[in-house]
Amino acid sequence: MQDIDRIVQEARAAFAATDNPDALEQAKARYLGKSGRITVLLKELGRLAAEEKRKAGAAINQAKAAVEAALTGRREAIKQAALSARLAEEALDVTLPGRGEAQGGLHPVTRTLERIERLFASIGFTVADGPEIETDFYNFTALNTPEDHPARSMHDTFYLLDEGGRLAEGVLLRTHTSPIQARYMQAHVAKYAGQETMPEIRIIAPGRVYRVDSDATHSPMFHQVEGLWVGENVSFADLKGVIADFLRRFFETDDLKVRFRPSFFPFTEPSAEIDVAFTHGAQRWLEIAGCGMVHPNVLTHAGIDPERYTGFAFGFGPDRLAMLRYGVNDLRLFFEGDLRFLRQFV
Ligand code: DAH
Repeated sequence: MQDIDRIVQEARAAFAATDNPDALEQAKARYLGKSGRITVLLKELGRLAAEEKRKAGAAINQAKAAVEAALTGRREAIKQAALSARLAEEALDVTLPGRGEAQGGLHPVTRTLERIERLFASIGFTVADGPEIETDFYNFTALNTPEDHPARSMHDTFYLLDEGGRLAEGVLLRTHTSPIQARYMQAHVAKYAGQETMPEIRIIAPGRVYRVDSDATHSPMFHQVEGLWVGENVSFADLKGVIADFLRRFFETDDLKVRFRPSFFPFTEPSAEIDVAFTHGAQRWLEIAGCGMVHPNVLTHAGIDPERYTGFAFGFGPDRLAMLRYGVNDLRLFFEGDLRFLRQFV
């Protein structure tokens, strides 16, 4: 009996001495395994006389239960200790102050474009898009621009090289957003082909455009917003109304004079340049857009009958509008990415 008590004590001590789960299982085997010390005692019971067998059996079973309880207790304790260690290791100090992630903001030109889109959306214009690498056809030909037009020259336009370093035929960085007019009209005509009446087109198309040009008021990359309204009775009076109303709403003032100055663009006839002057300010006329009635050749190119449909188009320089609205005097500031400048608009 003493023997049994000792075995139980030794087992407890062995379990307590380890804090490693594998070692614990090995220790278990020494007492409860196939030839473990408790197991051996049980096997030996067979040799005892009936009366003794019962007494010894009870004592051994008690001992076995005690060893098993010690084992379970130790297993649990080791598991808890491992968990606590992991929790301590992975602890997050939620009281630490944050790292001060800087908040981003919209670029002043993006703000301006969004403002223009919202104002035109309120009178039924949707936003259209087109590629920045444009074909010669859409950038020039579809817009009634002749082969010898200066805009087609190397001095004014960025052309592209192919993989062999040769001039890539027929593609360029678009010099204006006007090709979107041609693309949109063509797609619109295709969409409503075979219908008695073509629904009106009313789009604006904001985007980046590229020209070989750089000074305080010109950047080789800048933005334009193209506008196009084509329908059955669209007139120059509509153009004037839409533009004047837009400008008053854009600048949030009625103290604004708008002037349409005769001009020339290959894709409109008649054409005009739009100037504004703030009656409370320096009263200087500032040129902000080109516009006109869509040239019949442009309509025809797109598959629209110019005898039945008319339209107007315009092209704004939103960078210029942003300069005026925010009082910025150098266009290049917008594109230098200087945070000291940009933060002022957030
Ligand atoms: N595409 C012209 C430019 O880049 C601007 C322009 C003028 C657009 C007249 C138009 C327009 O739609 O009707 O200078």
